[in-house]
Amino acid sequence: MTYVIAEPCVDLLDKACIEECPVDCIYEGARMLYIHPDECVDCGACEPVCPVEAIYYEDDVKDEWAAYTKANVDFFDELGSPGGASKVGKVAADPQWIKDLPPMNHEE
Ligand code: F3S
Ligand code: F3S
Repeated sequence: MTYVIAEPCVDLLDKACIEECPVDCIYEGARMLYIHPDECVDCGACEPVCPVEAIYYEDDVKDEWAAYTKANVDFFDELGSPGGASKVGKVAADPQWIKDLPPMNHEE
């Protein structure tokens, strides 16, 4: 099991979560961040620090955001398991449907 980043992260990319992860497994895409499903050790430290509640335990992802669970897997199709996000940096490997999402307006 793993933690998953969902829709509230899109176009916001607050990145507070990165600072908390003890295994550096939160990777930056062009429009959101993704948790590596195999590298995450389920510590849960990232979940409470996200200001928009974008992070969920895999079993707790809202039904409407189920596709994001797969996105957090598909993002790593090309990357594999680098074993650390900081050395990888930003990668424009968002799944196509994420790339195609309309701009997300977080000003409410
Ligand atoms: Fe995104 Fe929240 Fe992290 S907005 S970058 S999941 S702190
Ligand atoms: Fe890191 Fe969050 Fe997993 S802090 S180890 S991505 S639960």
